[in-house]
Amino acid sequence: MYAQGYPPGTTATGGEAPDRPAAVAEPSPDLGHHGDAEVVPGLVDLAVNVRRDPMPDWLRAPITAALDELASYPDPSAARAAVAARHRRPADEVLLTAGAAEGFVLLAQALRDVRRAVVVHPQFTEPEAALLAAGHRVERVVLPAETGFRLDPELVPADADLVFVGNPTNPTSVLHPAETVAALARPGRVLVVDEAFADTTIAPGVTGEPESLAARRDVPGLVVVRSLTKTWGLAGLRIGYLLGPAGLLTRLAAVQPLWAVSTPALAAARACATPQAVAAERQIAARLAEDRAYLVDRLTGLPGVSIVGKPASAFVLVRLTGAADVRLTLREHGYAVRRGDTFPGLGTDWLRVAVRDTATTDAFVDLLAKILEA
Ligand SMILES: Cc1ncc(COP(=O)(O)O)c(C=O)c1O
Repeated sequence: MYAQGYPPGTTATGGEAPDRPAAVAEPSPDLGHHGDAEVVPGLVDLAVNVRRDPMPDWLRAPITAALDELASYPDPSAARAAVAARHRRPADEVLLTAGAAEGFVLLAQALRDVRRAVVVHPQFTEPEAALLAAGHRVERVVLPAETGFRLDPELVPADADLVFVGNPTNPTSVLHPAETVAALARPGRVLVVDEAFADTTIAPGVTGEPESLAARRDVPGLVVVRSLTKTWGLAGLRIGYLLGPAGLLTRLAAVQPLWAVSTPALAAARACATPQAVAAERQIAARLAEDRAYLVDRLTGLPGVSIVGKPASAFVLVRLTGAADVRLTLREHGYAVRRGDTFPGLGTDWLRVAVRDTATTDAFVDLLAKILEA
């Protein structure tokens, strides 16, 4: 089941690595499949985890005002300074990108000298896709459902010099303790933590994002990937950023297309970095936690449905025998959910469901209950 020559929990995929034993690549699920492919007009969207609430005026106004500046090339300096201040870092430890997705590509393209790249799965598939596109050979560490998809740093090969992990992780919704993630860092390794959904997490008694490493400057080789897509409903604008050591970010910037982040996207980055925006994010995360608890409660009341681990983000991973067929029946009845089988480490018995308001959840779970009874 596992690639020859690799410890349990790992498999390999991608190009040749002549200095290592040949590995048997497992059939790759479709890494390019994303939730947006599941949504067509007329379906209730439980597949894409982007918030759909109306944009607040403090965000709309600067984005709109930026339209008057489009004759000039974008200048990222003010947005960079604002994001740096938000995360209590110097400005040269911030690289603004056209969404988190561009960050993965920059890492894969710039770090060509990496010898052993490891992606911890199940997770968002673009980091692996970007690595493969850049010609890297990728090894997978697959966290088992049996342990609640909990991160075990021991599973990552000691000599891996590039490691990708998501926190909270898409699609499992598991939030790993910051110290467990940080324990993956070591000299000579670049540790990439995808925190695209970190702003959706919350914990009682914790003021900020509970397990974020975004402000941590003491972890060697740490690059934190952030996105403004999810909470602020900006998927179409393309804005995210990387946080990490200045020297490493300079290498990544060297392969970034000139003027990669547009002026309206820079305006959004600036607006979303203010204390007002961060406070609003916390409120949204608190509300989300209530809606998530409601969804989890209703789902776990259904026969044959289970939820592995403790969901902490804007979506819930559901285990259910025959989920692939159930997904198709849900579509026939007007609901799009995210298939699980294209995530390495999952299969046809998994679905990812977005957290929505309680009325939407009720309608969805009532339908699911009927389908399961039939
Ligand atoms: C975990 C995770 N990281 C990154 C991204 C990419 O986000 P962006 O829109 O900022 O490129 C996504 C998008 O679905 C995601 O789910």
